[in-house]
Amino acid sequence: MTQKWSYLQSIDEITVGRYFEYDLDALNLFRKWLKFMTVPEIKVLEIGSGSGFFTNILLTLFPEIELTCLEPDEVFVEKLKERFGKKINIIVDEVETMRIKKNTFDVVISHIVIHNLTEPVVALEQMKRVVKINGRVVVIEPLPASRNYYPSEEVTDAFDFLNKARIHKCIQRAKSMTIEASVNPWKNCYPRFYKEVDLTNINNYGWTSVFTLSDGRYDYHEKKKWLKMRTQLMENSKRANSKNPLRSRRKEREYRSRV
Ligand SMILES: C[S@@+](CC[C@H](N)C(=O)[O-])C[C@H]1O[C@@H](n2cnc3c(N)ncnc32)[C@H](O)[C@@H]1O
Repeated sequence: MTQKWSYLQSIDEITVGRYFEYDLDALNLFRKWLKFMTVPEIKVLEIGSGSGFFTNILLTLFPEIELTCLEPDEVFVEKLKERFGKKINIIVDEVETMRIKKNTFDVVISHIVIHNLTEPVVALEQMKRVVKINGRVVVIEPLPASRNYYPSEEVTDAFDFLNKARIHKCIQRAKSMTIEASVNPWKNCYPRFYKEVDLTNINNYGWTSVFTLSDGRYDYHEKKKWLKMRTQLMENSKRANSKNPLRSRRKEREYRSRV
C-alpha cells in the first residue's frame, strides 16, 4: 500500500517547515496571479490540501470563493475539519481516481502536490476533466534549485540532514508504490505535461524560492527559533523511530550508495 503523506511529514513538521514561506510580497504576487478568483462564489477545488497551509492562503486572499478540498490522507482530513469547519467542503479521495463529475469547478488548483505523484499526467487529465470549459487549472510547484540558498554552515548542515532523511523516506515511499527506488522524487517537470493533456493558454509565472530562510528581511533570532523547532522535531522523530537507518553507519553507507 502506498505510504500516506503524513508518514513523510507530520502536521507539526509542515507547520514548522512552512514557517518562513510566503511573505507579504509573495502573497501579493498570488493575489495578482490568481485575481480571477475574486469573483464571488466561484467554485474552486484544491487538490492535496494537506494540513491546510495553502488552503488558509486561499481563504485569506479570496474569502468569497466556494472551496472544496480533496485530500486522501485521513490524518490531514481531520486537521482540515478542525481548522476550517464549515468554510470548506472536503472530499476524501486521490486526484487520479476522483469521482467528481466533469465540468464542475471554475478553478482546480494544487500547491506542491503534482511533482510527488507517479502519474502526473493522469492527475492533470483529471484536473482538466473536472474544470469547466474556459475554467482554469493552476499548478504551483517547487523549483529544486531553491534548495541552494542556505546562508550559513549551521543552516546548511541542518538542511543536509533533513534532506537526507526526506530523500530516504521518499525512496521508501517510492518502493511502496513499486517504482524504481532510484527515481528522483523531484524529477517531474510540468509544461510538457500541460500540453499532453491539451490544456491551452498555458502561462508560466516565475518564482525564486519557497524557502525564505536566506532572506535578509527576517530577523536572525526568528530564524534561530525556527531552526530550534525543526531540530526538536527531528529529535522527536528519531526517538519515535528507533529503526531510523540514518543512525547506523553501515545503513548510512548503503543509503549513500543508493542515492
Ligand atoms: C507536500 S504535501 C502539500 C500539502 C499542501 N498542499 C501544502 O501546501 O501544505 C502533498 C499533499 O498531497 C497529498 N496527496 C498525495 N497523493 C495524492 C493524490 N494521489 N491525490 C491527491 N492528493 C495527494 C498528500 O496527502 C499531501 O497532503
